[in-house]
Amino acid sequence: MPAPATAVLRLEQVTKTYVMGDVRVEALRGVDLALQRGELLVLLGPSGSGKSTLLNILGALDVPTSGRVWFGDEELSGADRDRLTEFRRAHVGFVFQFYNLIPSLTAKENVQLVTDIARDRTDGLEPMSPSEALALVGLAARQDHFPAQLSGGEQQRVAIARAICKRPAVLLCDEPTGALDVSTGRLVLEALDSIHRELGTTTAVITHNVAIGGMADRIVTIADGLVHSVRHNEQRLGPRELAW
Ligand SMILES: Nc1ncnc2c1ncn2[C@@H]1O[C@H](COP(=O)(O)OP(=O)(O)OP(=O)(O)O)[C@@H](O)[C@H]1O
Ligand SMILES: [Mg+2]
Repeated sequence: MPAPATAVLRLEQVTKTYVMGDVRVEALRGVDLALQRGELLVLLGPSGSGKSTLLNILGALDVPTSGRVWFGDEELSGADRDRLTEFRRAHVGFVFQFYNLIPSLTAKENVQLVTDIARDRTDGLEPMSPSEALALVGLAARQDHFPAQLSGGEQQRVAIARAICKRPAVLLCDEPTGALDVSTGRLVLEALDSIHRELGTTTAVITHNVAIGGMADRIVTIADGLVHSVRHNEQRLGPRELAW
């Protein structure tokens, strides 16, 4: 049965078991979760609960052991590697705890790499220019700086610009503030919040920080490989209002 039109991505009874020699880890044990178009979802849960595994399956960096994954009405589970690569390239922006910028390229060139790759996409959406993407994260003035000339928070904002320049259908962030102090982390959250407001990008953010849940439309808590609770925020807070 096709996914409802409002879900950009949907997991249906997804499990993931890692087997390493004699050790089996059931990282996900039957997850149902839909990422609704335009929402900002925060994923909370203790270390080892399966959050990264879940995000990686949503973004087709990894495949489930069982269960189904839908992108709109297309079933991704069962798709071949080439299709999954194409899906990621055209539709998914990733942001990780560590920024993974190329040190020998400037901020603008780091973003440019992705816009060049995204230009071959098949759905007709033009990527934004690197300058435009960097302006959206508040780094218009730092385009020609190399990563070593930027603070950790600025580097993370370059990574966010790089993730969104191709106008992805979903932006998936795995502990984007995990390596940052509170005030720098807040600037990164402001960048995510303004992208969400201005571009309407469907966004999922993994965090250990319960306070960050305040800026979400929905907070999903994962425990021991299962969705433990789903909570809607009546009123979203701005990053500056979070009690963090
Ligand atoms: N590639 C892998 N091979 C084997 N086991 C793995 C692999 N990736 C994750 N695991 C295991 O699966 C479980 C869930 O891991 P996952 O990384 O999804 O947790 P997490 O909630 O993101 O934790 P953290 O908050 O520490 O990042 C853990 O027990 C982990 O050790
Ligand atoms: Mg993780």
